[in-house]
Amino acid sequence: MAKQFSGNVFDKVQDEQRQGEVYAATVEVAGKKKMYLESYGCQMNFSDSEIVASIMAENNYIPTTALEDADVVFINTCSIRENAEQKVRGRLQVFRQHKKHKPDMMIGVLGCMAERLKSKLLEQEKLVDLVVGPDAYKDLPNLLSQVDSGQPAVNVLLSREETYADITPVRLGGNGILAFVTIMRGCDNMCSFCVVPFTRGRERSRDALSIVQECRDLWENGYKEVTLLGQNVDSYHWTAEDGSESVNFAQLLALVAQIDPQLRVRFSTSHPKDITDEVLHTMAAYDNICKNIHLPVQSGNTEVLKRMNRTYDRNWYINRVEAIRRIMPDCAITSDVIAGFCGETEEQHQDTLSIMELSGYTMSFMFKYSERPGTLAARKFEDDVPEEVKSRRLQEIIDLQSKLSLLSNEQDVGKTFEVLVEGPSRKSDAHFCGRNSQNKMIVFPRGNTKAGDYVKVKVDRCTQATLLGELVD
Ligand code: SAH
Ligand code: SF4
Ligand code: F3S
Repeated sequence: MAKQFSGNVFDKVQDEQRQGEVYAATVEVAGKKKMYLESYGCQMNFSDSEIVASIMAENNYIPTTALEDADVVFINTCSIRENAEQKVRGRLQVFRQHKKHKPDMMIGVLGCMAERLKSKLLEQEKLVDLVVGPDAYKDLPNLLSQVDSGQPAVNVLLSREETYADITPVRLGGNGILAFVTIMRGCDNMCSFCVVPFTRGRERSRDALSIVQECRDLWENGYKEVTLLGQNVDSYHWTAEDGSESVNFAQLLALVAQIDPQLRVRFSTSHPKDITDEVLHTMAAYDNICKNIHLPVQSGNTEVLKRMNRTYDRNWYINRVEAIRRIMPDCAITSDVIAGFCGETEEQHQDTLSIMELSGYTMSFMFKYSERPGTLAARKFEDDVPEEVKSRRLQEIIDLQSKLSLLSNEQDVGKTFEVLVEGPSRKSDAHFCGRNSQNKMIVFPRGNTKAGDYVKVKVDRCTQATLLGELVD
């Protein structure tokens, strides 16, 4: 499971649910203690791991991929679906075996599962020493000394202010080209299926100046692409303490894009209820703001959307897709889709399939509904779609997405794209890969290119997942 960076994590970066990635320090320094940090969940959780690594580095810890050597073992967890938590519980069993051989090894659960289960984790998972929620990482040094003195330690306080704006993340496992920058934390939407508002707390926006500064530093250190992260980036809003300045998401995008025309800017996730024409026009105005919007639909049926408390309906969503097409005809749209939400009928499921077709998604993350304790849906609705029906509907959604992805890729055959080279392709070192503005992966013979270059590639073939082509001048 432990994985050292080998130049090929690129396929993973766009996965919403990343699993069990572990990174080592590039230099080992004698006298340092060792931290093993395994991360799960969304990109924001991975960015939090970079904050944790930074706080731990200040306290004399370096990352290791060797679990057996670690003084501290952290697992940064996700609660979004039941199976995400199951995986973490499995890993805790493995850590437990290691601790039996090395009793002074400290085991800490971080992230969303820590927040959801709080001190219950100490009772349920024997040998866990430390439970730390997503807003409490600055307290890690204190908590570790508490464990050192023989006490288990818990801090799951959620904050209305913490954005870790003052912490420079240690970039873990990246390729030095793509970086992720958290611009806001928490979520104030109450989608009825979702655990995030409970695990991440209230929405707060990070100081715009610190975001721009972090992106500028990345650019000056050779990074070529930044992805701005938040659960609902369109509601980003920051006002300076003295009230002298105020920045919304469209303005933030422009500020980051202006750092340099060669710095690519991406963002995720947009909420269909909040994405404004101002954001779309800003995207259109800057070539370096990538033409890809992740606009999770969840369901294509108005009744279901209402039960999900998504606060938009089918027509609203279609209207947003039309606005994107009008303002940026070359913009790719991607989505998240849930199959088998409470009370979903066959007809309502068909509405999801039809909105996928209408929107022409280039890619989607697709899930079976998984009831999460404490959420509105768990309290109000019965999880009544039988497992086999959920599975069948999910399969239909996946099959349709495969068709849509292939169709969209076929339309790109013959076109030439600018590609930011990421490194060797998965299959061969003679081929390199990188993404175009629309976030499609393109594979081509490497020629004299190197990671971090911008190249032009003419697409001559495709699969459902990849475009293939040749370098052109
Ligand atoms: N803030 C983002 C989504 C964050 S969670 C947004 O609003 O779009 C990522 C995705 O996980 C969601 O878009 C949803 O499709 C899925 N998801 C969340 N809770 C789920 C649940 N209980 N069961 C199945 N899928 C879920
Ligand atoms: Fe969850 Fe909805 Fe917030 Fe997304 S917007 S994190 S789905 S509550
Ligand atoms: Fe992300 Fe999972 Fe938490 S999706 S916000 S790590 S519940």
